[in-house]
Amino acid sequence: MIKTFVRKYYQRCRIKIFSYLSQPETQVIGSPIVLQPVEYRGLGTIRFGDKVQLGYSPSPFFYDGNVYLEVRSKEARIVFGNKIYCNNNLKVICERSSVTIGDNVLIGTNVEIIDSDFHELDPLKRNSGNHICMPVDIKQNVFIGSNSRIMKGVTIGENTVVANSSVVTKSFPENVVIGGNPAKIISQF
Ligand SMILES: CC(C)(COP(=O)(O)OP(=O)(O)OC[C@H]1O[C@@H](n2cnc3c(N)ncnc32)[C@H](O)[C@@H]1OP(=O)(O)O)[C@@H](O)C(=O)NCCC(=O)NCCS
Repeated sequence: MIKTFVRKYYQRCRIKIFSYLSQPETQVIGSPIVLQPVEYRGLGTIRFGDKVQLGYSPSPFFYDGNVYLEVRSKEARIVFGNKIYCNNNLKVICERSSVTIGDNVLIGTNVEIIDSDFHELDPLKRNSGNHICMPVDIKQNVFIGSNSRIMKGVTIGENTVVANSSVVTKSFPENVVIGGNPAKIISQF
């Protein structure tokens, strides 16, 4: 009884603190179901469809981690469709393009999705800020295994499964299972 109360109260406080620490300029449209603290950052727009859940319990990082959603520039957009379940510690950083997550997508714990390398590869230009950003598009019903990383410019086709701890560096079609670093097709259905 007391434990339930402390758990709820502790997590609610954490959620409030992260909301307070978030950047007020970030445009957040829609109302996700927030079970884990969420930090919003940046000058762009984050849009949620219906029934988007952020965080899950019981699952690792529930009490000591957070969701991080950053739309760094004004033109940056993160768009969530409907009925999306994100387990704990999702990080999405969209610098200058878009990250789109389709309906019914499932996301495991500790997944990172980025639209940029954040630095040029050429050492002389590495901090010039002129690096490329490319949209990420995760189509409906995709299942992303825990600890996976989705890199800039990637499209993942409908129903595709991303195996645990994959690093996805290029686009893949629908109805396949992909995995590894760099991710490759393991099987199809
Ligand atoms: C991808 C996955 C669904 C495959 O499960 P499965 O259909 O039972 O497949 P198997 O375990 O029989 O493996 C099939 C092949 O995929 C390979 N494989 C499985 N998981 C892999 C991974 N994470 N990375 C790379 N290869 C993987 C296997 O080595 C095997 O290769 P082989 O045919 O050359 O021997 C499963 O391994 C996985 O990663 N699930 C995601 C779990 C998760 O993170 N859930 C989120 C919690 S909310």
